[in-house]
Amino acid sequence: MPDTPAASTPVMTIDGPSGSGKGTISRIVAQRLGWHYLDSGALYRAIGVAAGWADLDLDDPGALVRCTFDTEIGFREQGDELRVVVNGHDATDELRMETAGAAASAIAAIPAVRAALKDRQRAFRKPPGLVADGRDMGTVIFPDAGCKVFLTASADERADRRYKQLKDKGVSVTLDGLLREILARDARDANRAVAPLRPAEDAVCIDTTGLGIDPVVECVLALVPGYG
Ligand code: DC
Repeated sequence: MPDTPAASTPVMTIDGPSGSGKGTISRIVAQRLGWHYLDSGALYRAIGVAAGWADLDLDDPGALVRCTFDTEIGFREQGDELRVVVNGHDATDELRMETAGAAASAIAAIPAVRAALKDRQRAFRKPPGLVADGRDMGTVIFPDAGCKVFLTASADERADRRYKQLKDKGVSVTLDGLLREILARDARDANRAVAPLRPAEDAVCIDTTGLGIDPVVECVLALVPGYG
């Protein structure tokens, strides 16, 4: 690969299942390093939401691939928050719903959709660096990343974290229902034929069960050569 500015720009990948804390950790690590941030799950969720708006059938790969190419997705910093704009509408709140996550997980199993999103994700690699969070950042999208992290946590703890997040937002859900959804989504993400959820061979795995945010952030930052 030629040594283009993008290829020589450092990347840290942070992969893991939903509720492992990767979104929160990745955002803080990106801020501390002064690097760009890619929330790749938001791209899949955005396609899921756009497909819902267009009333597309989640079993129609052709329509979903067209939708992937046609959907405009933008990110906007607002204070500490990252707002996601889909086809000109601020869809941040809708993207966080379990329905958007479930649609994203189904859509993410379609190889042509994943292929259609590859270049879009790689375009986020810009100086001075990128923290990319998702499922296949270290295995498929940025296999040459200098730092790869895989975060996990027990399914019970992940369901508990989601429950608290959603309750704070006034969304009514049950812990049991969330746990069932998380286990179903884990199984779908880990067992799909293309880019299944798994740590890259050279990833550092961190189990965040019982850990607060700060120790995990410090542990991740300690992996960046020359930091600190
Ligand atoms: O990280 P998240 O929960 O926002 O991701 C939503 C769904 O998108 C998740 O079930 C799997 C899929 N996804 C993926 O397949 N690959 C990624 N890089 C990011 C997300």
